Amino acid sequence: MSLFKVYPLYNINPLQAKGCYVYDNKGKKYLDLYGGHAVISIGHGHPNYIKSLSNQLNKIGFYSNYIINDLQKEVAEKIIKQSSCKDYELFMCSSGAEANENALQIASFHNNKSRIIAFKNSFHGRSNAALSATDNQNIKSKLNTKIDVTFLKFNDRESLIKEVSKSDVSSIIFESIQGVGGLDEPDSGFVKFLRETCDKYNICLIADEVQSGFGRTGDFFAFQKHNIKPDIIPMAKGMGNGFPVGGVLINKKIKSKFGMLGTTFGGNHLACSAVLSVLKTIEEENLLKNSKNLEVYFKNKLSKIKSIKKIKGRGLMLGLEFDFDAGELRKNLIFKHNIFTGGSANKKLLRILPPLNIKTKHIDMLYKALKNELK
Ligand SMILES: Cc1ncc(COP(=O)(O)O)c(C=O)c1O
Repeated sequence: MSLFKVYPLYNINPLQAKGCYVYDNKGKKYLDLYGGHAVISIGHGHPNYIKSLSNQLNKIGFYSNYIINDLQKEVAEKIIKQSSCKDYELFMCSSGAEANENALQIASFHNNKSRIIAFKNSFHGRSNAALSATDNQNIKSKLNTKIDVTFLKFNDRESLIKEVSKSDVSSIIFESIQGVGGLDEPDSGFVKFLRETCDKYNICLIADEVQSGFGRTGDFFAFQKHNIKPDIIPMAKGMGNGFPVGGVLINKKIKSKFGMLGTTFGGNHLACSAVLSVLKTIEEENLLKNSKNLEVYFKNKLSKIKSIKKIKGRGLMLGLEFDFDAGELRKNLIFKHNIFTGGSANKKLLRILPPLNIKTKHIDMLYKALKNELK
């Protein structure tokens, strides 16, 4: 029996991880500036995380959503408090795709329309509606052709107005910083225009914070830079520091109805304990501030390397753009310098998505390795 091969694997077999380091089966130590795709937010094996999960495991690990789970309420209250996003309610699920699928579904329930507007280069996950709203033909099957999605360019107000005027648009889904797509961002003015347009045409504005949420950009959510209030906020990745958990914040103007959504695993006791430990650590270690500070340090330091064409992103959701395919460089960083970084749909871009508590010395290590490779 072999595995269904969908991932082109790097030949590395990690057995242990601590903080921002990963150790393989040969005892080799790697600096993790990828965080398993922006998932490891508070660092591998953080003491708060281990304590919270093991304590919870000794009490109750799981029960279904048809009984009271006070931990979900605690998660909701703490997210609302730490993000300052008032007037929202929480629905918990288990992944980013599921969070977006629920968000699109909630919008359609709310305004009884179905067309989705998404953006070029978007990535929203692998479930049907989320994948339909993803701008990548290579990963879509015939099954993903039935949902009506229109892809627009960021900042193109004219096309937006032309589309929404048809009155059938249920939701507009956008990433404040595109993750997989390569760290492009819409202008602040355009995001505000999206908000106004959604209000005018009874459309739900969905800010996909699956990758950019939970402090990664230095704000709790990346859309907060634009001073707007989305109707629905899907989140996942950094929320559980590796525990599979996602959630959707839903503005209170959208009314719930019994049976409208559902999940077996979403928001179980263990998942909640993981989220609570992440929230506690973000607060205790002031990780939003650390993300912001390290962004400045990173941009100053890395801008000294002349072959880097552009440094993109915010906080610790960063990208280095070259005028060549960065695939070989990424491989050399792993195998010659023991540093994990991420790729992107934009082949010329290296993505940097480390734990939010890394230090300047870890950025120096990347700088040194890049200087060596790009001389
Ligand atoms: C912005 C965004 N949305 C949704 C997803 C899908 O999340 P998941 O892989 O947890 O389903 C991703 C994953 O990379 C993402 O970056």
